This record gives sequence, structure tokens and C-alpha cells, in this order.
Amino acid sequence: MERQSELPKEKQNELSKIAHVMAVMSGKGGVGKSSVTALLAVAFAKKGYKVGVLDADITGPSIPKIFGIHSHAENFEFGILPAKTQLGIEVMSLNLLLAHEDDPVVWRGPLIAGAVKQFWTDVVWGDLDYLLVDLPPGTGDAPLTVMQSLPLDGLIIVSSPQELATMVVKKAIKMASIMKTPVLGLIENMSYAVCPRCGEILRIFGPSKGEEVARAMEIPFLGTLPIDARLAELCDKGQIETYSSPLVKDIINQVDIANLASTRVAKEG
Ligand SMILES: Nc1ncnc2c1ncn2[C@@H]1O[C@H](COP(=O)(O)OP(=O)(O)OP(=O)(O)O)[C@@H](O)[C@H]1O
Ligand SMILES: [Mg+2]
Ligand SMILES: [Zn+2]
Repeated sequence: MERQSELPKEKQNELSKIAHVMAVMSGKGGVGKSSVTALLAVAFAKKGYKVGVLDADITGPSIPKIFGIHSHAENFEFGILPAKTQLGIEVMSLNLLLAHEDDPVVWRGPLIAGAVKQFWTDVVWGDLDYLLVDLPPGTGDAPLTVMQSLPLDGLIIVSSPQELATMVVKKAIKMASIMKTPVLGLIENMSYAVCPRCGEILRIFGPSKGEEVARAMEIPFLGTLPIDARLAELCDKGQIETYSSPLVKDIINQVDIANLASTRVAKEG
């Protein structure tokens, strides 16, 4: 995939070798970005890839909690060592640097941007196939910094039915286009519910709009994920790694750049 950008990218830590970087973005808050970022990371890891998650939500980090990480990031000679989940996913979040997990971070834009860049330049990620970046909602400082400073393969847009109805999601997609960052596709989260008794699909918010919006914005539609009380519970308990979903597997296969590249080589060769 061609990486277009006018600004020079930040240098990654000398001890890191990261093949692909994807960021997860939304227009509004609370649509499930962090949960979906974690789900994608787990699915990539279960597929056998080396995966990292960079929590770029500096003031509202939720990645450590979803993975049940309460340790601190270690500082050593060559940089900062990320924390490791049970499946071996490398995680870096501002929460891992705070004395207390519930300490607030009251920083202005430049400091936030600085922290996001440091998570790229100073963290020793090691060898990774995929680094997933969990962004805060909207089109503020952190998404801007990530799009300007990191060599992104592309963005994954997460949206909810409510957000799709208000079209706020279009702001995120338009920002990507202004920044010349490719969009890998749209995921509609909390799209429907499944009746626990009979398995009937309950379209609580009416018919799904994700596919229609993706088509209108000329980006790929990656699929829908249902409202699942078990997912919410496992995120709360820090046990996301025990959740598996064929829908998420299907989504990561669609954005598996390494896989797509090798199939392309196979076809051409
Ligand atoms: N598909 C789902 N089914 C049930 N609950 C979900 C689903 N997706 C997310 N949630 C729950 O919704 C809440 C918000 O999710 P999450 O924190 O991932 O959203 P976010 O977009 O990252 O929020 P923010 O904008 O604050 O960063 C969490 O409690 C999470 O467990
Ligand atoms: Mg979040
Ligand atoms: Zn039923």
C-alpha cells in the first residue's frame, strides 16, 4: 500500500520493527472503538501475528482495563518497555505511566501530541506484524498527530447506528481524506441484538446503515458487530482475550495487509 504524506514521519524506536500500523477512529465517543481495537488485536494475535496496541487516548485511556493490565511500563536504557497481555500482545498506554490508574491527565494539546509521538519513538515495541492505535473520539489533536507522525497503512472507522444516523462519522472519513490517510474500511458496531431465547436478530435501531454510508463515502464496508452483553462484561473484567467471534475473524482477514500482499504475490507469481 502506498504511503502518501507531505510531512516527514517520526522515527520509530531503533529497537522496534513494525511492519504495519492501523489506527481505529470514530466521529463520536462511546461507539466501541477501544473494544473493537482490542478485539482486532486479539484476533490478529490468535492468527499467529505479533501484535501491539498503542493507546493514543491520552486523557481517557481504556485499553489496559480491557486487557486486565494493572502493571506499569518499565523504563530502561533504550526506552520504555510496554506491558504484555496473557496472549503476548504488547500494550502501551499513558495509564501504565501514572502512579495511580485513576489519576486524571489534565494536559493541553501539545503535551498530548508529545505523548502520542513518544509512544512511537521511545517505546521499545520490538518486532511486530501489526500495531493497532486506539484513538480518542473525534478529529482532535491525537488523531491529527497520529495521521501526521506515524506511517499508517490506514484507518479503520468504527461507528454505531446512532452515529451513522447523524452522519458525524463523515467528519472522521473526511479528515482522513484531507490528511491523505487511506481508510481500510468501516465497521458498524452495536448494529443489532440477538434474542438469547430464539436467536432472532433484533434490529433495535432499524435497518443497518453502515453499508450505505460506506458506499456513499467510497470506503470498504468491513461488517457489523452485534450488541453483546458478554463482550461488555469481558471488557469490564479485563478478559477480552477469552472472547472469540467469527465476525471479527472475518473483519481482520479483510484488513490483513500481510496476507493480502502474499496472496497478491502468489497470484502474480
Ligand atoms: N458490541 C458491543 N456490545 C456490547 N457492549 C459494547 C459493544 N461495544 C462496546 N461496548 C461497550 O460500550 C462501552 C463503550 O465502549 P468503548 O469504550 O470501546 O467505546 P469507545 O468508542 O472507545 O469510547 P470512547 O469514545 O470513550 O473512547 C463499553 O462499556 C463497552 O464494553
Ligand atoms: Mg475508547
Ligand atoms: Zn426470541
